Amino acid sequence: MAGLVIANWKMHGSLELIAEFAQEWRELPQLSGVNVVLCPPAPYLGVVSEAVEGIVLGAQNSADRVEGALTGEVSSQMLSELGCGYVIIGHSERRSLFSETDAQVAVKAQLAIAQGLHAVVCVGETLEHRDADQQDKVVSEQLLGSLAEVPWEKLVVAYEPVWAIGTGRTATPAQAEAMHGVIKGCLRGHFGDAGADIPVIYGGSVKPENAGVLFECDNIDGALVGGASLNANSFWHIASAASAGRA
Ligand code: PGA
Repeated sequence: MAGLVIANWKMHGSLELIAEFAQEWRELPQLSGVNVVLCPPAPYLGVVSEAVEGIVLGAQNSADRVEGALTGEVSSQMLSELGCGYVIIGHSERRSLFSETDAQVAVKAQLAIAQGLHAVVCVGETLEHRDADQQDKVVSEQLLGSLAEVPWEKLVVAYEPVWAIGTGRTATPAQAEAMHGVIKGCLRGHFGDAGADIPVIYGGSVKPENAGVLFECDNIDGALVGGASLNANSFWHIASAASAGRA
C-alpha cells in the first residue's frame, strides 16, 4: 500500500501560517507513492483546501452524534461536505483532556466511515504502562474497545505512545515496529484477512531526521505528524521519506 502521512496541526496556525505553508509547499517537488493529508483546526478547513495543493483535507475530531443541540461540536457529515477525506479520532489529547472513552471513539469512527471519511483511530500507552511492560495489553484492549461495530473499510490505526507525543522522545524503530506487529495481529484477529489491509501509522515526535528509519520498518505504513507538520519543508521531507520507504 502507498504510504500515508498525516499532518495534525492541533490548535496551532493562523491565516498567515496557512499562506506561508501553501507558498512553500507549492515550490516543493510533487510527491508520488504517498498519500498526504493535512488536518488543520476546523475553522481553517475551507481556507486550507483552497490554498494548499496536492493534499487531502482532514479534520482532527468529529462528534459522536449525527446532529443535535451540541454547541461547539462538528459532525462527520459537515466534514464530508467540506471535502474532508480523513478525520483523526480518539487522539490521546482528546482522550486525556476531554475524557473521550473507547466507546465514544468507536461511535465517532462508525459515523465518520458511514459518511465516507477515513477514520484514523489513535491508540497508545502512557509512560507508566510502558515502564510496567504493560504496553501490549493496554494498547490491544484500547484498540479493540475503540473498534466495536466499526467496519474495516476506510479504517486507519495510528499508534502514538503518549510518552512520545510532543516530547522529542520518539519510540525506537524496534519499539514502534514491535507494537505495530501487535496491532496488526489484533486487526487480523478482529477482522480476519481484511485486517491485513488496514494501514497502521506511527505518531510521536516524527521529524525529517527520524522518519526514514521508521518507514523502513515493515509494519509502519506512514506517520501522524504534529509539531513537524507546521513547517511545509519539514513535513515535505517526512512525506518524501514515506514515499521512498514504499518505493
Ligand atoms: P508530535 O505530535 O509529532 O508533535 O509529537 C504527534 C501527534 O500528537 O499526533
